[in-house]
Amino acid sequence: MANETLTITDNRTGQTYEVPITHGTVRATDLRKIKASDDDFGIMSYDPAYMNTAGCRSTITYIDGDKGILEYRGYPIEQLAEHSTYLEVAYLLLYGELPSQERLAWWENRIKRHLFLHNSLISVIQAFRYDAHPMGILVSAVAAMSTLYPEAKQIHDPAVREKQIWRIIGQIPTIAAFAYRQRIGRPFNQPDNSLSYTANMLYMMDYMNQRDYQVNPVLAKALDVLFILHADHEQNCSTATMRGVGSSHTDPYCALSAAAAALYGPLHGGANEAVLRMLQQIGKKEHVPGFIEKVKKGEGRLMGFGHRVYKNYDPRAKIIRKVAYDVFEATETNPLLEIAVELEQIALKDEYFIARKLYPNVDFYSGLIYQALRFPIEYFPFLFAIPRASGWLAQWQEMLNDDEQKIMRPRQIYLGPERRDYVPMDQR
Ligand code: CMC
Repeated sequence: MANETLTITDNRTGQTYEVPITHGTVRATDLRKIKASDDDFGIMSYDPAYMNTAGCRSTITYIDGDKGILEYRGYPIEQLAEHSTYLEVAYLLLYGELPSQERLAWWENRIKRHLFLHNSLISVIQAFRYDAHPMGILVSAVAAMSTLYPEAKQIHDPAVREKQIWRIIGQIPTIAAFAYRQRIGRPFNQPDNSLSYTANMLYMMDYMNQRDYQVNPVLAKALDVLFILHADHEQNCSTATMRGVGSSHTDPYCALSAAAAALYGPLHGGANEAVLRMLQQIGKKEHVPGFIEKVKKGEGRLMGFGHRVYKNYDPRAKIIRKVAYDVFEATETNPLLEIAVELEQIALKDEYFIARKLYPNVDFYSGLIYQALRFPIEYFPFLFAIPRASGWLAQWQEMLNDDEQKIMRPRQIYLGPERRDYVPMDQR
């Protein structure tokens, strides 16, 4: 297209520069040629929290935050949630296309061959105190896997990379289940690879030697849909961490451990836990208007609302709301649901939330479902991390295969003291 450039006039010098525009973006390094004098470093862009900076080109996930659209490799999230499975979606994210029947069988087999944990990893999990937060266990256990599979350092070998991907996606649910059983003081159930990915996880957490034990298929399906919805979300805080840490060419376990640490925070994957605590604290539907008033005065946030990218209803939240009702038919209704629905109804009509485009996000209803599945609240961020592992790994591979990527190294604007001489202690 003609004139795909930006003309910039530097009013300090009167000089004009032409900068190419590609994919609606100018390169920040092109600004460096704009200098006030020969020894000037050149203009930098300042963008705290990366509000308007693309750090990569990606072909994995597309989001239109204003329209509330989310697609993985071009497939709308609604269609994937309805027709696909989490493992198929993980394949799609990692390999770029939906698998054939044969490839899907191969892929499922690869993952199911990697569900078991190394005994040393089991000892790591057992070393934690009974009340350790599961995310602390996840961050440590995944980092510990780096010591068990030292070949993982060969990140430029695609076959080695692929093997670590199978191990991570296979073992993460087992780590989650063992961490849970450790907490409640019960023996570990070894994985059963005849079950689906999510049914096996529920089995490892629940099974108590009952002769007639069967995983409830409605609950396994609900968890699978939640896993699909959480699998990737382009350059969010934890994914940017995975790419950033991975850009130093560390192994995928250490990078993923860092990504999980980023996910742990209450503004990110920890929000589902925070929503449940907020609903418990509100306690009754009648307390909702008072709570909203406090939020509007700046005394706390309405957790599960708002998003950096979505300025519309989060498409994942719409699907989750429906899943919540399916699950409550198979379990008993969660009394906190009534409070959540009331909060949503009041907030969606309130000028404060409308003006700021604050809508329910993925975490608003997911916690209620996790609670109906009897997961302890502290486990909620872990349940976010399990499926996000496939997104993190897909983004990590894409970063390694991108010739334009280098070690991540942002610039800064230095505003500290100018050069000064050291003052001896007796003169301060
Ligand atoms: N409750 C009340 N006010 C809010 C909320 C909220 N949940 N979120 C944003 N605001 C207000 C904020 O106070 C600010 O108002 P003002 O302009 O008067 O100062 C305005 O909206 C813009 O907020 P911001 O903090 O500049 O927006 P952000 O893009 O930096 O933050 C967010 C995005 C997700 C961190 C934020 O909306 C939030 O803290 N939400 C609650 C936590 C949450 O649910 N997180 C899960 C996100 S989705 C899953 C994931 O990605 O992990």
